[in-house]
Amino acid sequence: MTAFQYREGVLHAEAVSLSALAQTVGTPFYCYASGEIEGAYSAMERALSGLPATICYALKANGNLAVVRTLAKLGAGADVVSEGEMRIALAAGVPAAKIVFAGVGKTAEEMAAGLQADILQFNVESVPELEALSQVAESLGRRAPVALRVNPDVDAMTHAKISTGQAENKFGIDLGHIQDAVKLALDLPGISLEGLAVHIGSQLTDLAPYRAAFGKLTALYRDLKGQGVPLRRLDFGGGLGISYDGETPPDLAAYAALVRECAAGLPAELVFEPGRFLVGNAGVLVTRVLYVKQGTARRFVIVDAAMNDLIRPSMYDAFHAFKPVAAPAAGAGEMPVDIVGPICETADTFARQRGLPPVAAGDLLAICSSGAYGAVMSSTYNGRRLVPEVLVRGGDHAIVRARPSYAAMLAETPLPDWLDPARPAARGVA
Ligand code: LLP
Repeated sequence: MTAFQYREGVLHAEAVSLSALAQTVGTPFYCYASGEIEGAYSAMERALSGLPATICYALKANGNLAVVRTLAKLGAGADVVSEGEMRIALAAGVPAAKIVFAGVGKTAEEMAAGLQADILQFNVESVPELEALSQVAESLGRRAPVALRVNPDVDAMTHAKISTGQAENKFGIDLGHIQDAVKLALDLPGISLEGLAVHIGSQLTDLAPYRAAFGKLTALYRDLKGQGVPLRRLDFGGGLGISYDGETPPDLAAYAALVRECAAGLPAELVFEPGRFLVGNAGVLVTRVLYVKQGTARRFVIVDAAMNDLIRPSMYDAFHAFKPVAAPAAGAGEMPVDIVGPICETADTFARQRGLPPVAAGDLLAICSSGAYGAVMSSTYNGRRLVPEVLVRGGDHAIVRARPSYAAMLAETPLPDWLDPARPAARGVA
């Protein structure tokens, strides 16, 4: 979070005051720092230098067009999981030849859209999906470039809801079934089998699960190459963790060394699918304190952001650090508070018994490390409008998603004729 520093007592995103931004855009709002995104991408690019690697940014972490464009300008590819993400990636200037389409449930329409766009590869996760993709490709007179996603049955040692590489997870094809899937892929007229892929989970803070998964993947690759299967690409997925609460995520150099070791001597192009690593620490969610309520058991800081804006604490018990936008006075001390949003359920809690310097109604707080899986996972629950997103670059800022008006919100749900008081049928007139 180096892009977010205090300058003259006010938290800034690069050279932009978050307090000034709050005046301009209103709260809550997301703020992303371009420099932090660019720095993370360059660090990864440097770590992998010399390898035939394509870094395909996982749009699911943050699909804002300007964020994707920032990465596309640096040469990033894209990992997409829907036609919508594919369209965002293309609109952001990611070349189709650097787009991988992942996900366990692609529809025929999505497959056709990917084929028509001429993307790099589909990461296929099951035999029925392979058959469906072959049919769609044949009907379009094409062959779909495919990497089979392997489920290596490795415990990523991360939160259960974001762990994907074990046999009980819905993802990938079990190692025991992979030979059959390969045979089928080679036989199907609409499939061009080009690679293998793996992704074992997200927010990995230890390299050991990667070692286990990459080892299994590359052993399989060697084995299949030995059998004459014309593979040319290995996709190592994403999952690199970031620091939310002082964790030490895997060192990039160590990660890259592991990749080099596992892929040594393999005739394979490499694909990586980082999401969180590139954007997680590049964003904050800025919120205003509405009330401070002293209960008998707890002191509650009620803020204007809620679980619909940032669901990670409610959904994964995720930790996000809070920083007051106005630097606390020296020696201000901290007191334990529960930081909660306005939504009508107890799950709408960002932090329990968190030490915070004294805050009062009107104060601004930055919810740190919110650049990944923040805005993209938001909803309009409780009739709340999606919050705006602001991108900062040096001293410049731009609103890259505006807060919708209430009129726009209402316009999304037109009434049928028979319920519309403005139409004759609703008044009982034939
Ligand atoms: N590739 C595949 C196939 C994935 O499923 C994912 C994430 C990624 C790449 C990117 O993973 P990353 O580098 O960002 O860890 N909403 C959760 C995280 C869900 C991750 C889903 N898949 C959270 O807020 O922690």
